[in-house]
Amino acid sequence: MKRESWGSRLGFILAVAGSAIGLANIWRFPYLVGMFGGAGFVFVYFASLLIVGFPVLMAEICIGRAGKKDPSGSFAVLGRSKRWGFMGKITIFTGFWVSAFYSAVAGWIIGYLYEALKGNLTHFRSTADSMAHFEGLLASPAFTLVTHFVFLGISAGILLFGIRRGIERANKFLMPLLFAILILLLIYGLTLPRAGDALTFLFKPNFSALTPLAILSALGQSFFTLSLGQGTMATYGSYLDKKENLIFSCVPILIMDTLVSIIGAAVIFTIVFSVGMSPDAGPGLIFHTLPVVFSQIPLGYILAPAFFLLIAVAAITSEISAIEPSISYLIDEWQVPRKKAVMIVSTLIFLLGIPSALSVNLLSNFTLYGVNFLDGAGWLASNLLIPLGGLFATILAGWRWGAKASIEELSYGAEEVMAKNSWLKGYFWFCFKFSAPVLITIVFLHVLLS
Ligand code: PFF
Repeated sequence: MKRESWGSRLGFILAVAGSAIGLANIWRFPYLVGMFGGAGFVFVYFASLLIVGFPVLMAEICIGRAGKKDPSGSFAVLGRSKRWGFMGKITIFTGFWVSAFYSAVAGWIIGYLYEALKGNLTHFRSTADSMAHFEGLLASPAFTLVTHFVFLGISAGILLFGIRRGIERANKFLMPLLFAILILLLIYGLTLPRAGDALTFLFKPNFSALTPLAILSALGQSFFTLSLGQGTMATYGSYLDKKENLIFSCVPILIMDTLVSIIGAAVIFTIVFSVGMSPDAGPGLIFHTLPVVFSQIPLGYILAPAFFLLIAVAAITSEISAIEPSISYLIDEWQVPRKKAVMIVSTLIFLLGIPSALSVNLLSNFTLYGVNFLDGAGWLASNLLIPLGGLFATILAGWRWGAKASIEELSYGAEEVMAKNSWLKGYFWFCFKFSAPVLITIVFLHVLLS
């Protein structure tokens, strides 16, 4: 079977940006900033992007482009052993694992989009009201299962069409839609009362709220938001041509991902501050706090569906990227045709997502150390599997395959930029060999020791 490839640079950029920009930008980032006191957190997050997130992104894409296979194949070729191939398989498994619980949660967003379109999110008088509504919906197994199914079905439908006609085409349509909604919401948010206070909260550093937990969360966020450690970027890189200038295509991706997080937070904070509420509600921020606000501000009935459509689009383009490594594995290693591979993988993901979907109702008493299945699945992914995959990728790029070879790979197509900015080589060398592996190890040690 001939291996598929991207049709254009823009297609690749939008697909990677689509993967990176997801629930972690528009939901998790704003609530983390809200919880950890604003700009101090943002500052540490930027630093983690520069010394860990971005270099690991480049390392993973280079591994894929050099190996030209699914992650297990590429890791095996560059690591010159089956053992490395096994580590590649772990990263594929992580994507598979993430896509299952991500789909269960994204299902709530689909459900909320439907609610918003029906006009059910604009009649709340208090957070207690909107919380009761949210909990009422989640208490129904039918709601959580059907929405999980619908969300996964849309994602699988896109994947059936392959790289150019599926992933690339969907991103070329959905990403501009996402940017358009986001900008419109930002413009609206900036016209609201107290918008200035919201922006001050976001941009004026207050380092007192910066606990060690905040710093670790910033590191974890930089990883999750760039879809690292789960075979996604190695797989997307494997569909890329050697002539592609990776610096030119990946720097805009990093900028877009960061801007969407910042603008997403600005949108949510301006909306929340405008009615004098506080953005520190944690994960409930978009489900509890926002609907109360939508009920109070002008145009709330348009704002609510626009907002949930925005998040649903972001989640779909991320979900497909978490599933694609498993599909490419079946195609490359087992010669399964794409359509069949999509059907097998999405059925398994649906099944694996069921305990997560039911963890908020039927299985809510089914806990381990007080944690339900969904939270446990997220914990395992963020604290163990994802950092582990990132660590494998940096050790492969920095040590086993080697920093010299990986930087050479990175330079193909980017010879001129690399020659003009000689510091870039030193930067990647230092990050591949030291800053990324060391910082990821610290995250591990913290998890294991705490
Ligand atoms: N980057 C996505 C987000 O920001 O929500 C999350 C994600 C997507 C994680 C794809 C993992 C993945 F494979």
